Amino acid sequence: MNIKESYAVVTGASQGLGKAFAESLAQKKINIILVSLPNQYLKELSEEISEKFNVKTHYYEVDLSVNENVLNLTEWLNKSFDIHILINNAGLGGTRKFLDASPNYINTILQVNVMATSLITHQLLPNLLKQPQAYILNVSSMTAFSPIGFKTVYPASKTFVHSFSRGLHEELKDTNVFVSVVNPGAMKTNPDVSKRIEKQGFLGKLTLLDPTKVADYCIKQLFKKDSVIVVNPVSWIIMKILPIWIKLPLMTSAIKKEIEA
Ligand SMILES: NC(=O)c1ccc[n+]([C@@H]2O[C@H](COP(=O)([O-])OP(=O)(O)OC[C@H]3O[C@@H](n4cnc5c(N)ncnc54)[C@H](OP(=O)(O)O)[C@@H]3O)[C@@H](O)[C@H]2O)c1
Repeated sequence: MNIKESYAVVTGASQGLGKAFAESLAQKKINIILVSLPNQYLKELSEEISEKFNVKTHYYEVDLSVNENVLNLTEWLNKSFDIHILINNAGLGGTRKFLDASPNYINTILQVNVMATSLITHQLLPNLLKQPQAYILNVSSMTAFSPIGFKTVYPASKTFVHSFSRGLHEELKDTNVFVSVVNPGAMKTNPDVSKRIEKQGFLGKLTLLDPTKVADYCIKQLFKKDSVIVVNPVSWIIMKILPIWIKLPLMTSAIKKEIEA
């Protein structure tokens, strides 16, 4: 494959883990298409990455919470590029009493985390299948392994991402498209997330990860065809062995501290 002319698509690439993914891929001389919300200096970041790593970059500003926007994005991608890597990183969550959540809050989390991830993957799959070797990496979360009060919608959406990825991996295992999922714990990726993690106290800090290290490790493991990438083995084991009747109240009380603080 002429990797120079093929592209990796990274959603949510303007900041945080998505930006780290874009830089990590560019370091490996892979051309990037950065996707994020408008007015997030994506053009500047795209030019900066292109110059710094000497790769081709393009960018597309879009609100992924609207299905029609997702379809316009994927139509443009399919028309213009060969895609051999898709990283579904865009995602958002929050902490609040469910009663206080607005319809827009619930809708945006589900649309971006669940619907955009599924729809982008679905629409780009024919393009990926045409490449000699292609990869999909979906970003789930440690929260996928336990329901959590005061977060409710976000962990449920990330459980979907995990299950979707495992199922698709199995379905595509005899093709050239390799599907992987990562379930990171807390990362200080943006001021809002950092503030929330600080309020969670000991439990939040215990699992704290560096987004650049997470991105580099994920890319390395993706190319090694690791279908479930574990970036935080200690919390992974804790989440796997703790019964639900212990972890559900434990996680909920840690998260409740965010609201009370
Ligand atoms: N940070 C953590 O502790 C943590 C832990 C586990 C999993 N994760 C997951 O890791 C991924 C990246 O998280 P992060 O902490 O790096 O978050 P972040 O810094 O808030 O970045 C999220 C990215 O998604 C984009 N995005 C959000 N809503 C969007 C929308 N409606 N349309 C298009 N793009 C949208 C954002 O774009 P703008 O910049 O334009 O807003 C941003 O680039 C997410 O899927 C998150 O759930 C994060």
